[in-house]
Amino acid sequence: MPDATSSDATPSVDATPSDAIPVLETPRLRLRAFRDEDRAPFAAMNADPDVTRYLSKALTRDESDAFVDRILTRWRERGYGLWAVERRSDGAFLGFAGLSWQDFESPATPAIEIGWRLRRDAWGHGYATEAAAAAARFAFEVLGLDELVSFTARANAASRRVMDRIGMVRDPTADFELPHVPAGHPVRPHVVYRLTRTSWAASAAPGGLR
Ligand SMILES: CC(C)(COP(=O)(O)OP(=O)(O)OC[C@H]1O[C@@H](n2cnc3c(N)ncnc32)[C@H](O)[C@@H]1OP(=O)(O)O)[C@@H](O)C(=O)NCCC(=O)NCCS
Repeated sequence: MPDATSSDATPSVDATPSDAIPVLETPRLRLRAFRDEDRAPFAAMNADPDVTRYLSKALTRDESDAFVDRILTRWRERGYGLWAVERRSDGAFLGFAGLSWQDFESPATPAIEIGWRLRRDAWGHGYATEAAAAAARFAFEVLGLDELVSFTARANAASRRVMDRIGMVRDPTADFELPHVPAGHPVRPHVVYRLTRTSWAASAAPGGLR
């Protein structure tokens, strides 16, 4: 996903007080509101070149902290947002997953995007897919959304596999060039995937998660 700095012109879902950010539990994970103690591991993740390889840039500590602040503000404004992903077995902070309003100029937007970012040492366990499936379920069953989109750099195979695993379908007609990245930059070409409530409800549950 772009870096959550998109403008605020959104048809918001009912506002949710900050203390009412819902907690979602999956077999191995807890999706919950960001806390202050997440800020240090979140900043480490956002500065890791492996994690930011397909993102427009790494974040400084200040930029990462501002991102947490924006995440909490968006929840209050819109009633949806990005959750901190915590491993239930040991309480470790793994990253984020969730929903964000995107309205920069492209054939895929405006739209609500489902997205994810995990610490490098949390990759390869199916955690992103498990968290994404829970976020999609919230989007369709609680918010009543009709469709989610997701987009990523064309070369980001790991993220595209998460999209496949939760049942998203590529929409090549909506592919776009990321606007705030210079022409020729390898992360500029983006691919777009969609998931409708109807297809989600009809599909087999990813990993037996529903
Ligand atoms: C995108 C990202 C979250 C994907 O993480 P991931 O760990 O590859 O994805 P999942 O959590 O779904 O795990 C799936 C992998 O775990 C493996 N796995 C191991 N145990 C598993 C289990 N119990 N269940 C499911 N998968 C399991 C799968 O084989 C799969 O590996 P493969 O893709 O090599 O076949 C991660 O690469 C990331 O954070 N990247 C940086 C940020 C980023 O690019 N975000 C997206 C920007 S749009």
